[in-house]
Amino acid sequence: MITPTTTPTQPTPLLSADVIAARVRELGQAITRDYRDRDLAIVAVLSGAFVFASDLVRAIDLPLTVDFLGVRSYGDATSSSGVVQITHDIARSVENRDVLLVEDIVDTGLTVRFLIDTLKTRSPRSLALASLLHKPSRTRAAVDIAYLGFTIDDVFVVGYGLDHAQRHRNLPYLGVITADRPYT
Ligand code: IMP
Ligand code: MG
Repeated sequence: MITPTTTPTQPTPLLSADVIAARVRELGQAITRDYRDRDLAIVAVLSGAFVFASDLVRAIDLPLTVDFLGVRSYGDATSSSGVVQITHDIARSVENRDVLLVEDIVDTGLTVRFLIDTLKTRSPRSLALASLLHKPSRTRAAVDIAYLGFTIDDVFVVGYGLDHAQRHRNLPYLGVITADRPYT
């Protein structure tokens, strides 16, 4: 008798933990070079970026602070409404600081566009974006990603912090959900 080892809902591997780790190290080195003698304030977007941010900050060899910004842009239905709500604000002022916003993925770009516009009103000295992933084919809002992990096709990915209906965030790699197209 053959016991199936995978189910139809099992994500198909796209980027391995090793490939991700190598790229995150490179991004950390680039940020370390660029932010020497600056006042680096990491602002990580919850929940999806929590794994990426925790690896990225350990790859940055500089003094820095870490804050978290919680947003809700996708419900469990995972379709972008374009309406972004801050569910948890950062605890410290970023005035005159060099803010690096850390996001898991730029899909339509609406979430990051909103967050950049919001953070700009708080008078940082500089503001840049690091995103693990970018889906350029779906992006509708102009966003400049200073530190990008990987460009991917129009597929729905989970793992390494990213979820579908709050599941799969603990997968150590990035995988694609193919069974159903989980967003519109
Ligand atoms: P955007 O506003 O359309 O750019 O989407 C931003 C948010 O949607 C991301 O921060 C993710 O939380 C979520 N998202 C977009 N695409 C995916 C995906 O492929 N997998 C998991 N979450 C996604
Ligand atoms: Mg997110």
